[in-house]
Order: sequence, then structure tokens, then C-alpha cells
Amino acid sequence: MYKNNKIGIFDSGIGGVTVLKEIIKVLPYENYIYYSDSKNNPYGDKEDKELLNICDNIVKYLLEEKCKAIVIACNTASAKAVGFLRKKYINIPFIAIEPAYKMVYDLAYDKTTLVMATKGTIESEKFNLLYNKYNNHKTYLMECVGLADIIEEGNNKKIDEYLKRNIGIYKGKVQNVVLGCTHYPLIQKNIQEILGNVTFFNGAKRLADHLKVVLQEKDLIAKNEGIINFIDSQKLESKKERFFKILEN
Ligand code: DGL
Repeated sequence: MYKNNKIGIFDSGIGGVTVLKEIIKVLPYENYIYYSDSKNNPYGDKEDKELLNICDNIVKYLLEEKCKAIVIACNTASAKAVGFLRKKYINIPFIAIEPAYKMVYDLAYDKTTLVMATKGTIESEKFNLLYNKYNNHKTYLMECVGLADIIEEGNNKKIDEYLKRNIGIYKGKVQNVVLGCTHYPLIQKNIQEILGNVTFFNGAKRLADHLKVVLQEKDLIAKNEGIINFIDSQKLESKKERFFKILEN
């Protein structure tokens, strides 16, 4: 493994850009390859076996590109596939996002909490272990079926309608909101408009710090140019444009 190799990062689409944004704040001199798997979006409703296969193929691709570490910037893929990937590729560090529910435990345990995530994440064994360990007994779990798709589509009208229909009932009832899908920070403002003054919890910053520690421990921190290479599995130019627009704002 060489220091100057890239860091690979993937998600079912452009949502993982919210993770990459935090990573480049702490590791600006790394080169990155971001894989947006829009062809297989959404991951949230996929059967486990199919998702493992999809993730395995992405990892193979990132390893062919000689990545020195892989960031799973998708809560669903992390919840379902990281155990399998770590066992299969023992020489490569995998850094995986998870819903920031421990952060609620650490910082706002006494407050009522809404965890928003995909069906796949909420139903996963990995999330349930986390949930049972840090349960504050004042938590609503919400499977946001279809939400990541409309964020990926970038349709604001549909997003606002979806939120009104599905999270309006929590207004005044919750003080914490866990953004348990990497697409959701992109609509934090829309959520706030409906729920009012809530505190958001997002695992991206902690992941970024953890990635830095892992690379330091393995003596893999680079002083590169900070190049970001974007690949979309459908080669959609529109995804690339939106990705860089979000990254640069
Ligand atoms: N960004 C993915 C996540 O964090 C979206 C999942 C999906 O494609 O349904 O879970």
C-alpha cells in the first residue's frame, strides 16, 4: 500500500458528497476517487445478497484503481455490507458511516429523537445493535422509503411534499434529528422548515476524523494535489455537475 495512492469513496449516488465534504476539511492533500452508483440507486430497498454483490463489485473497481483505503459513504451499504467486505479484503481499511445515534447518547440523551434512515438501515442488524446499545427510550425510528431517490433526482417540489406528508407529524414532538442517510444533509433546510428548531446529528464529521486517525496509524497520510475524480456508474454528466456544485458550495 502506497501513501500516494487514492482514497476510494462510494455511495448509491451523489449523497456521499456530504461525507467527502467533511473528509477534505481534515485531509485536503489526499487524492480521491468518488464512485456514484446511480445505476443501482436506491440501495435502501435492496435484498442483502444483491447489495453485497453490488458493493463487492465497486470495491473490486476501487482496488483496481489502487485505493489505499475505502470509505463507505452510504449508511445502508455500511449497515449491510461492511462486515462482509472487511472479511473478504483483509488488507484494506474500510471506514464506514453509520447513523449518529451514539452522538445523541453522548450529547443530548435526554431529548426526544427522530432517526431518519432508509428501510435497509433501520432493519439491519448493525443498526439494531447500535440502537439497543444507546437507546434513550425517547426515539422514533422512521424508514424514509423513497426519500433518497427524490433527493438524488433533485426535485425540490417532491421533496417538500414528501416531508410534509411524512415528517409533519413529528413537529413539536422531537428535538433531535439523526440524519441517518448521507443524502439527507442535502435537505436539512427543508426538514428544518417543517420541524422548526431541532438539532441535527450527522456522522460525517466523526467519520472524517476517524479516517484521519486510521491513515495516521498506518502511516498512509499523503501530501498530494487534492484531486477529486468523480465516476458515475451510468456516466451521467448531470450527476458530475451537481456533485461538484455541492462540493464547492
Ligand atoms: N446515501 C445512502 C444512505 O446513506 C442512500 C441509500 C439509498 O440509495 O437508498 O443510506
